[in-house]
Amino acid sequence: MKQEQLEQLLLKMSVKEKVGQLTQFAGAFYMKHDDGTPVTGRIEFPVEDDMLDVSGSVLGIAGFEKVKAIQENHLHRSRLGIPLLFMADVINGFQTIFPIPLGLGATWEPSLIEKLQAVASKEASSAGLHVSFAPMADLVRDPRWGRVMESTGEDPYLNERFAAATVSGLQGRSETISNDHIGACVKHFAAYGLSEGGRDYNTVDLSERELREMHMPAYKAALQAGAKLVMTAFNTVNGMPASGNAPLLRGMLRDELDFEGVVISDFDAVEELVAHGVAENESVAAQKALQAGVDIDMMSLSYARSLSSLVEQNLIDASLLDEAVLRVLELKNELGLFEDPYRGMSVTNEQAVLNAAEHRKLACEVAEKSMVLLKNQNVLPLERNRSIALVGPYADNPDLLGEWSIFGNMEETKTLKDRLPDARYAQGSALYHREETLLLEALDVMAQADVIVLALGEGRDRSGEARSRASITLAPCQIELLKKAHETGKPVVVTLFNARPIDLTDVEPYADAILECWHPGSEGAQAVVNVLFGKTNPSGKLTMSFPRATGQIPVYYNAYKTGRPLPEGSEERFYSRYIDIPNEPLYPFGFGLSYAAFTYSNRRISQSELNPSSTLIVSVDVTNTSLVAGEEVVQLYIQDVVGEVVRPVKELKGFEKISLLPNETKTVSFEIDSEMLRYHHSDLSYASDPGLFHVWMDGSSVCEDEGKLTFTFHTS
Ligand code: BGC
Repeated sequence: MKQEQLEQLLLKMSVKEKVGQLTQFAGAFYMKHDDGTPVTGRIEFPVEDDMLDVSGSVLGIAGFEKVKAIQENHLHRSRLGIPLLFMADVINGFQTIFPIPLGLGATWEPSLIEKLQAVASKEASSAGLHVSFAPMADLVRDPRWGRVMESTGEDPYLNERFAAATVSGLQGRSETISNDHIGACVKHFAAYGLSEGGRDYNTVDLSERELREMHMPAYKAALQAGAKLVMTAFNTVNGMPASGNAPLLRGMLRDELDFEGVVISDFDAVEELVAHGVAENESVAAQKALQAGVDIDMMSLSYARSLSSLVEQNLIDASLLDEAVLRVLELKNELGLFEDPYRGMSVTNEQAVLNAAEHRKLACEVAEKSMVLLKNQNVLPLERNRSIALVGPYADNPDLLGEWSIFGNMEETKTLKDRLPDARYAQGSALYHREETLLLEALDVMAQADVIVLALGEGRDRSGEARSRASITLAPCQIELLKKAHETGKPVVVTLFNARPIDLTDVEPYADAILECWHPGSEGAQAVVNVLFGKTNPSGKLTMSFPRATGQIPVYYNAYKTGRPLPEGSEERFYSRYIDIPNEPLYPFGFGLSYAAFTYSNRRISQSELNPSSTLIVSVDVTNTSLVAGEEVVQLYIQDVVGEVVRPVKELKGFEKISLLPNETKTVSFEIDSEMLRYHHSDLSYASDPGLFHVWMDGSSVCEDEGKLTFTFHTS
């Protein structure tokens, strides 16, 4: 449709029809006559049927048959024949499930993320979806928060790269969104990742400078990559819930970032303005949300019940309603829904696309690349001829798909036991509680083997939304099992299946090797086996620090400089330190081992002076000194030695993943320009300062200090 036709359509719409476009109801509402599926969540009653007839979008339902039936029925009843939009959370895959986003981050391969999101998009569109609520671009620093699994970690630059790659994968890179792609909705705007104490839905309070410096880059990158929608966050930003926050939505998002797409609230977030105590009732909540810039109300029904009368009473400017509706119509138009409300969907295509062999192959490859080898004392890779005891509550557990795998199929997911049929197996323990008989069985099995592979972790029931934990250790029964394994004197390999950084202080001393496998997806078990036996050499690197203790949280690599930095090795008191544990996390950002060994040498800089119009090149030679081929993520960190405001101890500014054959050396170079040195000053201007800078290139955020390079930046 042409823009004029959309505007014509808008003119024909009644207020109620307009309000309908701004509502999103769960799929179950539309299904109620057919199968009586109950509505989930806090919404206890469905809206009246005529509101459903004019509604604009549907949440969380997919599949050719269901979508076709709902759309057909809707078009039949809709006076103006405006098709419904179908949206859902396709986070790490639709039916072929990839690792959770925190694992995807560990690949340090944005191009791979784009590729798998294109697969997710293809599958989702074949099943009738039009929009995914991804990427979650929230920067995270608190592993108590169950939703860290949905993020790619603690670094603004990496998050930026991954958010953009996700959008490009979901939407494709062409001008229009083709039928085998869907729209991307970046969330949760803004700074949801900072929920206080890691408790979900909790307050966020941060300075505007910090918001712009650390949190905005990834949302911005998603918008620059063309994300069609933005979802508001549950939390407050500068004292006002995001869904009622005009400076955030109209000011920053629309005026400053020029966002012209659709803003959707998070689930029930409009109505929650009442619980937040910034609206007396649902009607005021609806008024404030629309005025602040929320176009679609996801599931709270506040718009459905109040907007019409607010417009009639002139409590809302009708033009605000029109603008929001037009944006929704434009999105439907961009997706081609007016020409073909089914977007070429067919049952044959759906069957051919879902779970296709090449998708599963990619899922295995990505899972292998997401795994992070945290420790290895000459145990891995496993030798084929050794007998293995496969023990632990995750050894025969198909819960490998992660919390958001709503369209995945856990029942058909192969477990480690399925993929290691020759190993002797014992469960050893339930996930969270001890069972004596299981433990005894495991002791027996472990006694008969040469090497013990323990599969430990926490399930999807302990991660994701509304699953904050005050303590992030493994369950005591699992630690007990590990200690028993250690007591056998046999090598113990711990494979970990979890969706947040875990405090591994009680695990590390008893394990000879630790492989972080995350919730690795549909092909996760095969991927673990491939890594354990060295068919694939692990190359993942952490994108979120693993703390030593819950009391150390938040701990992240790009912390600001304090006035009392602890000198290395110092035991003295009056420094910024804990008296009972070191400052450093157990496993830092950027860290991950390989079966190969890499040395960094010959670090050099093309010149020691930089100005705004020049660039300089830093280079390092990386050599594989081992007998196996491997991949290494070479990381570039910069420190601004003196800033106008306090600056981080270091910041990631570039990275490159290289593969090296045994004895091979490659030179990796990075270009540095003044743009990379810019940051938000106290007056919020974004500029770079003259002065000294330090540069590191290394395989982790803990860098060899001898390898440090320096240059001076001159602004005139
Ligand atoms: C979550 C969002 C999600 C939405 C729809 C909410 O509870 O916070 O991330 O997209 O539900 O499923």
